Amino acid sequence: MRTCYVGQVCSKNLGQKVTLYGWVHRRRDHGGVIFIDLRDRTGLVQIVFSPDKQVFSAAETLRNEFCIGITGIVQSRPDGTVNVDMSTGNLEVLCDEITVFNAAISLPFQLDDTNLSENTRLLNRVLDLRRVKMQKNLMTRYSVSSAVRSFLDRMGFIEIETPMLTKSTPEGARDYLVPSRVHGGHFFALPQSPQLFKQMLMISGFDRYYQITKCFRDEDLRADRQPEFTQIDCELSFLEEDEIRHIFEDMIKFIFKKVKDISLPETFPIMTWKEAMYNYGSDKPDLRVNLKLIDVTDIVADSDLKIFSNAATSSDSRVAALKVPGGVNFSRKEIDDYTKFVGIYGAKGLAYIKVNKVGDGRDGLQSPILKNINDSILLKLMEHIEVSDGDIIFFCADKNKIVNDSLGSLRVKIGHSEFGKATGIFSNSWRPLWVIDFPMFEFDDKNNRYSAVHHPFTSIKNGHDAFLDNEEYDKVISKAYDMVLNGWEIGGGSIRISNSSLQSKIFKALGIDEEMSREQFGFLLDALRYGAPPHGGIAFGLDRIVALLTNSDSIRDVIAFPKTQRAQCLITEAPSIVNDDQLKDLHIKLR
Ligand code: AMO
Repeated sequence: MRTCYVGQVCSKNLGQKVTLYGWVHRRRDHGGVIFIDLRDRTGLVQIVFSPDKQVFSAAETLRNEFCIGITGIVQSRPDGTVNVDMSTGNLEVLCDEITVFNAAISLPFQLDDTNLSENTRLLNRVLDLRRVKMQKNLMTRYSVSSAVRSFLDRMGFIEIETPMLTKSTPEGARDYLVPSRVHGGHFFALPQSPQLFKQMLMISGFDRYYQITKCFRDEDLRADRQPEFTQIDCELSFLEEDEIRHIFEDMIKFIFKKVKDISLPETFPIMTWKEAMYNYGSDKPDLRVNLKLIDVTDIVADSDLKIFSNAATSSDSRVAALKVPGGVNFSRKEIDDYTKFVGIYGAKGLAYIKVNKVGDGRDGLQSPILKNINDSILLKLMEHIEVSDGDIIFFCADKNKIVNDSLGSLRVKIGHSEFGKATGIFSNSWRPLWVIDFPMFEFDDKNNRYSAVHHPFTSIKNGHDAFLDNEEYDKVISKAYDMVLNGWEIGGGSIRISNSSLQSKIFKALGIDEEMSREQFGFLLDALRYGAPPHGGIAFGLDRIVALLTNSDSIRDVIAFPKTQRAQCLITEAPSIVNDDQLKDLHIKLR
């Protein structure tokens, strides 16, 4: 039987017999003596096979990734052969017995190859997961879940499971549907979140609930989005927004400290959604980037430059500037590339002014747009933007959304670039914040109706019922909050509607008529009538938290078996076609 894990072998074991199990990480033949590094999930240790031992011939057959067990005596490594990069680097085990559990066929890649395509890695996930980085990532994931459980248990939360086969919960994405065999033509939906169930648990009196659970959303995938992902889902009764935020701020601080010994700021700054959009062009600002958008709409309203004055005098539009200190030396090509980049967000162009020497007035500036800006506007612009020698100022004038998306993304792109890092625009730190006071509704041009910015069960600010009654939906502010960390939205929640008449009004605003709301959410409206407590909650993206803690670019690197960008599992080849009998059972005919 195993006496300890590989990484646990230490000086205390000197002279002792140990039995270790694991995989051959590396094998070296040193003229008569064979060395292998044996690996398990805890690390590596060197095993020595001496030619005068019977095990030597077995050692000669070993190749990388054979699964073996060895028994031997722990000894110090001879002087000059200590490996300081290994935690067991001052020791080795002189092998007396070996069992080869299973050989490994030749590998599609070496485990330490760092240039593998993601497809190769996902196709060979079993081997990919043997790599040290992936082992560490999944261990960190486990540590985060444990820390969450220990924190929430201590705070009086109880874990309750909610159904996976359920009815659509509107979180804004498409559903994954599961056909019912028993009820032909009827479908379950996999939950986009446990939202309605956790609210019903509050009405049932459980007071504090949590669940670390899978959610399913059929949406466009990105580095921080998977069709199947994990939420730390929580709900509480009888607390206000700030009290809930306080508890979960503590939870995140606890996780970071416990898992990686990271001290997050004592209190997280709070920013309204309006401030976030105005200053950062984003509802998840990356505060590590020390640049802000500067609004110049009012200043350029009378400008001869039509792109500026048109935007400045149109509704839902703005003109904003992004001042980049030290950017005066950006080349034509760099500026062209940034212009192309903002084009992705719909910007028709990216005007700029280079500031060579402020003291020289107009002559100290350099820009194709200067000739269309008169002295008085130019002076006001330069004063308002507080320009200095060496700045470049980018301008974007368009619909709010285009300006915010374009300059907000450009801000992050420049901040994260080599230039941003070299000039100190980017500071490598942990910058959490809360974004609060989201609008309740946004107008969906495509469907010509309002949709909920968070979800339809979010409560609204006290006194905002009047806006609802007057159908002034743009003015309604919700009691929603998001937690943002280094530009990632890691959690989102709200105080919920706990009264059925307000819930009905929100459905009405969303164009869900009474019949439809009864049909879809009758169970919730009824439950709300049985003495519902005031309640609210939040859900965190576990995958995103672990990705941040492991410095991973994508959440795929912290999920054991993720889907590809095209929402497929390369190992099992899911989704796959099914046979006709199965389809028949499910009453499905393919078109
Ligand atoms: P929301 O939709 O904001 O809220 O989701 C909560 C958190 O889940 C994470 N997340 C995702 N992670 C990976 N892949 C995805 N496709 C994905 N979508 C969301 C994010 C996000 O902040 N029911 C509400 C919560 C509540 O109101 O309590 C909800 O699901 O980190």
